[in-house]
Amino acid sequence: MKCRVCQNKINTFMSFGKMPIANAFLNKEDFEKEYFFDLSPAFCEKCFAFQIETQPDPQLMFHDNYAFFSKTSKHMQEHFKKYAEWVEKNFLYEKENTFVVELGSNDGILLENFALKGIKHLGIEPSANVAEVAKKNGVNTLINFFNQDIANKVLKEYGKADAILAANVMCHIPNLNEISKSAKILLKDKGVLIFEDPYLGEMIKKVSYDQIYDEHVYIFSALAVENIFLKDDFELIDLLPQITHGGSMRYVLCKKGMRKKSENVKKILNNERKQNLDKLFTYIKFKDNCEASKKRLLDILNENKQKGKKIVGYAATSKSTTILNYCKIGPDLIEYICDTTQIKHNKYSPGMHIPIKPYEEFNKKYPDIAVLFAWNHKTEIELKEKKFEKKGGKFISHIYL
Ligand code: TYD
Ligand code: ZN
Repeated sequence: MKCRVCQNKINTFMSFGKMPIANAFLNKEDFEKEYFFDLSPAFCEKCFAFQIETQPDPQLMFHDNYAFFSKTSKHMQEHFKKYAEWVEKNFLYEKENTFVVELGSNDGILLENFALKGIKHLGIEPSANVAEVAKKNGVNTLINFFNQDIANKVLKEYGKADAILAANVMCHIPNLNEISKSAKILLKDKGVLIFEDPYLGEMIKKVSYDQIYDEHVYIFSALAVENIFLKDDFELIDLLPQITHGGSMRYVLCKKGMRKKSENVKKILNNERKQNLDKLFTYIKFKDNCEASKKRLLDILNENKQKGKKIVGYAATSKSTTILNYCKIGPDLIEYICDTTQIKHNKYSPGMHIPIKPYEEFNKKYPDIAVLFAWNHKTEIELKEKKFEKKGGKFISHIYL
């Protein structure tokens, strides 16, 4: 295959096998026509972009029934409030004519912080159902994918932007060259492009291979981000590690030479070179680590099942789709997965068809073991589930935390 960013020829270094759409929770009558694709990550030795070989058509993933609502986590709401305050303090210097844009604004979890302060803002979100929730909450939202056409239209109607923000969205977009060009059109000279996504360095360290699924066409490193946006004369001016989503990175870019560069940039780029994120052998080792992780998880589940223990899943995350399908874990091993998202209830998990139950099911009759698929929300969940652990219940996860 060719690298999506630089067209260099690259090879996939492993396959997780046939995968369904990670967020496509389904009814029994739809099992027969379920869509599968081959989930194979690849690494480009020229621009360092870690990417998946085949990504399903975006319309299959982001549509009117998109099952992910950002506001389900309290910690994430706090995180986005702080993100907004930080943007306002550091980058919204023109008090008079400030304009903030967010790509993939979901239910408005980030932008509502600007809306509440009366700051001019616009969310650009392709999934109508989540966008409607945002609109109801007073977040100005345009239902669309972001591209040069839309950038020009927004420019005409609203003027240039001080900041274009994104969170857990940029890594979903296959054609980043288009995003980079569109951002260049819409941003003021001193405007900033800021986004955060799950971080490659953390994924490699934690062997959290479940970050790899259809939506995440890339898992970024700073080395890759620098190369991706360089073509349109953007430069990295800051890098801020985040604890969200099991370890993320916030990237701050602006038009070349327009703003001061933080010391963090050099430091983190150097760390990445030390971690060999620019070398293929790192990813070949990662493949071995994934296989070892799969074996370990299956051993734990099988052992406990044989002892007659009741095992359920906690949180039907997108990430869990990769774990369940790669390890071939079905309802014989995990009885059901509980989740707080209504739209997922009474449906089945993609591919392996484990029933999804409302969260209350977990409290009604505690299992012996809960596989924590939202391991990135461990602190929040353990606090909520003190009683389960007090009664001898155990959370387990495929990664060492
Ligand atoms: P997240 O890690 O954001 O998921 P993803 O892998 O899809 O990015 O977790 C969100 C999912 O976890 C969502 O389906 C709701 C569920 N969840 C619970 O069921 N209970 C909880 O306490 C939390 C924090 C999340
Ligand atoms: Zn490349």
